Amino acid sequence: MRAHEAGALHADLGRRAPAWLRPPTDVNALLPPLWPATAGRGGDGVLTAGGVPVTELAAAHGTPAYVLDEADLRTRCREFVAGFPGVDVFYAGKAFLCKAVVRIIAEEGLGLDVCTGGELATALAAGMPPDRIGFHGNNKSTAELARALDAGVGRIIVDSSAEIDRLTGLARQRGVRPRVLVRVTVGVEAHTHEYIATAHEDQKFGFSLAGGTGGSAFDAAARILADGVLELAGLHSHIGSQIFDSSGFEVSARRVLGLQARLRDTLRVEPPELDLGGGFGIAYTTQDDPAPPAELGKQLLTIVEDECRALRLAVPRLAVEPGRAIVGPAMFTLYRVGTVKDVDGIRSYVSVDGGMSDNIRTALYDAAYSATLASRASSAGPMLARVVGKHCEAGDIVVADEFLPADLRPGDLLAVPGTGAYCRSMASNYNHVPRPPVVAVAGGRSRVIVRRETEADLLALDVG
Ligand code: LLP
Repeated sequence: MRAHEAGALHADLGRRAPAWLRPPTDVNALLPPLWPATAGRGGDGVLTAGGVPVTELAAAHGTPAYVLDEADLRTRCREFVAGFPGVDVFYAGKAFLCKAVVRIIAEEGLGLDVCTGGELATALAAGMPPDRIGFHGNNKSTAELARALDAGVGRIIVDSSAEIDRLTGLARQRGVRPRVLVRVTVGVEAHTHEYIATAHEDQKFGFSLAGGTGGSAFDAAARILADGVLELAGLHSHIGSQIFDSSGFEVSARRVLGLQARLRDTLRVEPPELDLGGGFGIAYTTQDDPAPPAELGKQLLTIVEDECRALRLAVPRLAVEPGRAIVGPAMFTLYRVGTVKDVDGIRSYVSVDGGMSDNIRTALYDAAYSATLASRASSAGPMLARVVGKHCEAGDIVVADEFLPADLRPGDLLAVPGTGAYCRSMASNYNHVPRPPVVAVAGGRSRVIVRRETEADLLALDVG
């Protein structure tokens, strides 16, 4: 293709693509922030991860499959531990949880947050030390709370007065004194600044600060202290997810430390811990530019120290709860292309053998993803494509807009990076599609850590 022709093609494609998406100069390039650290292309152009070519992974384990780069996951754990010195890092298991990952995060020195009995069961089955588990949730059942107490879970993040009632009753019965953090709704919306914060009452999580005297959050802490049954370990706030800007954390820390100061002034108590939650953003496309954990850690510590100095508070022991930033970029999904349909003059629809059942985020949150041809390099020019699944629904989109090589054909493997968080954990059996396996790769080897669901698994639940 001559240069002026290529320029004209790019201009034309560019018109139909979203403004941020540019036709790539090299369709085979892998952009580092999107991919796990060990991902690259072999001499034959095949994508490899953990030293294993994806063609081998597909042959051994089938497609679709989630591929976890174990070394990359460990590195991300270490970056958070090192980047947040003196801070407890709890991995938010809701992003993705299985026994192998529990063991890895435990080995790397992280704690683990769970928010249901199922997540707790997985953590305990994998041997996570219970004192390093935090238990979240706005509607924990009495049975779940009892199980957490009996297991010796290290901290329970209390979310409502009804829950404090339940937990107090259970603790009395057992003669134990569980450590609790009060979940504070600070009124900061993710991605946004203080000026456009959400209304406190329009939120199912936590205790509100609204009302001038520390709101129901103050009342909850005061009641826990007065009862003396539960140990008030600290305050907790989580402002949202996929956040790139530290201003939300700043407002949140200021507000929650304001409550800390009020507790000191009125009740003469400074709870020792402060948990600022998770929410650190990752790169899904070229548009996202996440800060490294060390930078986030520095920003957060500075914010808290400054505010504590201003309020003359002791700096509490801090905790954070990253989920997405730990596991998101460590995984990609490997699909096989089934059909390529050129919808004249608009774009090519590339159908893969999975879809909204293994990645609901595109349909649910309008999330943007990227994709690359994984089973070979291509010398063809770019075509504007939409990667869609096999489900009976027009909204079954995996990657809404991407430039893929124009010679993409059935049988090719396609990889979608950044699918470690909230993809397998939110997967469904829609259209009775069995959920894909998770295959860990490291040191030139692959191992299945979550096996593929089978039709027999689906039928086993259907007891007639
Ligand atoms: N801590 C608490 C209390 C949380 O509620 C969450 C996420 C986290 C930590 C971890 O947030 P992360 O670091 O992963 O952003 N399904 C949505 C995300 C829901 C997040 C729910 N809570 C998605 O796919 O984007």
